[in-house]
Amino acid sequence: MTQDLSLGLHGKVAIVTGAASGIGRSTVELLVQQGAKIVAEDINPAVAELAQMDSVATVVGDVGDEDTAQRAVSCAKETFGALDILVNNAGRTLPKPFLDFSMDDWNGLMSTNAVGPFLHCQKAIPLMIERGGGAIVNVSSVLAVIAMPELAAYAASKSAVLGMTRVLAVEFGKQNIRANAVAPGVVQTKIFENFVENSREVLDSYGPSHPIGRVGEPNEIANVIAFLASPRSSFVTGSLVTADGGFTTL
Ligand code: NAI
Repeated sequence: MTQDLSLGLHGKVAIVTGAASGIGRSTVELLVQQGAKIVAEDINPAVAELAQMDSVATVVGDVGDEDTAQRAVSCAKETFGALDILVNNAGRTLPKPFLDFSMDDWNGLMSTNAVGPFLHCQKAIPLMIERGGGAIVNVSSVLAVIAMPELAAYAASKSAVLGMTRVLAVEFGKQNIRANAVAPGVVQTKIFENFVENSREVLDSYGPSHPIGRVGEPNEIANVIAFLASPRSSFVTGSLVTADGGFTTL
């Protein structure tokens, strides 16, 4: 007897936010490889390059704008006819001593990391209900469960996403919509380059503090996202799946 080892994503339609680089880009590549059709969204116009791949349409906009969320959902409906999967991955960080945060700093980070996922879920869920179900994967962080100095706004935003995820699982479970969160540990992506000089060395210095002895690669998070987006995780909902090389066990 042969066993079907595919993820069962063939023909599924997904929106992936923050798709221009890092974890989002890896997720798009993996989902396409698995036969899914993707709306790839990012504030960075470079996301348009992804349209070179078969079955990818792109949307440029700020994830925290209602108009961007609406355009992404409309694009899924108009281009691919439906929506099965939403991956809320776009995010950024802003490390600052707590007493230095301005209202604009705080609200700006919340807009990207927490309001963005809220808006996208609110626009996407009606299409999923129409379709008879769906899967939402929200990229949170280990910072939703452990603490590091100077990351109060980031930790608050990623905790907000985790809380929302759990409520969505409860509120829409009977409509066959699953909602899960992923908590990546330290992963080699551009998020560090934006605020740390010599980011590669800084990142590598985190390696030994992981039981697995190194930081993560974007595709290692994409694998977890794809599993949670797929019917292979059909009994998983309301969960926080940690992918951190064991960092939070210590
Ligand atoms: P990245 O910087 O490579 O990718 C983030 C993407 O989000 C970029 O393409 C960026 O243009 C986009 N983006 C940022 N602000 C946006 C906005 N307002 N609207 C639309 N798009 C926007 O970083 P990475 O690591 O791939 O980040 C993906 C997610 O993983 C983020 O939510 C991040 O917080 C989370 N994460 C990353 C960790 C890491 O160590 N790299 C650890 C834990 C969580």
